Amino acid sequence: MDMMSVMANGKGLKGVIGVPGDKSISHRAVMFGSIAHGKTVIDGFLPGEDCLSTIECFRQLGVKIEQENDHVEIFGKGIKGLQEPNEILNVGNSGTTCRLLLGMLANTPFFSCVVGDDSIAKRPMQRVTEPLKVMGAIIDGREQGCYTPLSIRGGNLKGINYVSPVASAQVKSAVLLAGLQAEGTTTLTEPMLSRDHTERMLRAFGCHLVADGLTVSLEGKQELQATHIEVPGDLSSAAFFLVAGAIVPNSHITIKKVCINPTRTGILDVLKEMGAEMTISNTKTHVSEPYADIHIKTSSLTGIEISGETIPRLIDEIPIIALAATQAKGTTIIKDAGELKVKETNRIDMVVNELVKLGADIEATEDGMVIQGTTNLRGNFVDSHGDHRIGMMLAIASCIVNGETSIDNSESVNVSFPSFFDQLEQLKH
Ligand code: S3P
Repeated sequence: MDMMSVMANGKGLKGVIGVPGDKSISHRAVMFGSIAHGKTVIDGFLPGEDCLSTIECFRQLGVKIEQENDHVEIFGKGIKGLQEPNEILNVGNSGTTCRLLLGMLANTPFFSCVVGDDSIAKRPMQRVTEPLKVMGAIIDGREQGCYTPLSIRGGNLKGINYVSPVASAQVKSAVLLAGLQAEGTTTLTEPMLSRDHTERMLRAFGCHLVADGLTVSLEGKQELQATHIEVPGDLSSAAFFLVAGAIVPNSHITIKKVCINPTRTGILDVLKEMGAEMTISNTKTHVSEPYADIHIKTSSLTGIEISGETIPRLIDEIPIIALAATQAKGTTIIKDAGELKVKETNRIDMVVNELVKLGADIEATEDGMVIQGTTNLRGNFVDSHGDHRIGMMLAIASCIVNGETSIDNSESVNVSFPSFFDQLEQLKH
């Protein structure tokens, strides 16, 4: 396991950079391309471990996929072109691969087995297996199909009218992907709006669907047609450098071509509200996803409350927001974020445990955390616990601590941002 030592150099972080392609969009481009008819080309693909797991799974399902760095070509033969895999499908650390794949396989007339790593084995799959079983899929697994390893045999699916108890794009996408192949109409309503990349991209692949507020509906038996997807930069990756730009003294950072889909921009709203000096320019749209350049400089931040409908719009950014809050005057309260407990790790506990090691004034609550700022953080031995976003948050923390920080299991950043440490170094010069 890699141990990375990082020290602040006092010069600030400066530069104009791009971040790798959006993870959610990259997964979906591979999946939808794999069940479309014709050749789908993806540029700006994220070659991180999670999205590579998606490519591997679809190769095992008989799809020809060529990938070189951020360029991918997929030779789709339609959903009926998928073949029974000879081996177990391994989703690695990727919850998105696991849950969306189950939705895809819910109607395939063959047997598949899905496993992942130790983190995946702890993540709740019932939230997708339950509606998929109601639609007609035959699914089994640990604890009645709640956890991996899971087996699935696709059925003659019937459309469903499903009211999801969680605001989860993975649940929404799994049900819609099953619905795409089902008999009749599938409708899903969620309690708060989760990211809508599936809805946007399904349309780009020629699917007709109706999205109205918290409800999405589509007719089954629709065929997708190949297209060209250009993936904009991942705001969830950019978030680490945005917070770094705001809290590391003497910093000025511009990040080019970052996806600013409004279901993802909670981090931008929060940084603004905390007082960050940030500008957004050059807004453009490609295949229905908006993107822009974001500039940020060292700012004086103030604590705020983050809750309710904002939470799904920044759920993956909470670890780095917690770090920002340690450098903001006053109290920051994060609530309604119980979903953090079922991410790659229990992110409430991990964020609190690791930031306490650096001297932060932070406490866990039932559904979030309370942070008092500002605090002078000090170097220590910390651990990503195999969670990419905890690892990157700790690396940004180490840019402002007194002394040296050693991050154990630092290789976890490769899940979503393989060039993270190189780009951080680049900004230091
Ligand atoms: C994702 C949805 C979110 C998010 C995850 C990616 C997606 O998970 O946290 O990193 O691509 O659909 P949930 O659906 O569990 O909220």
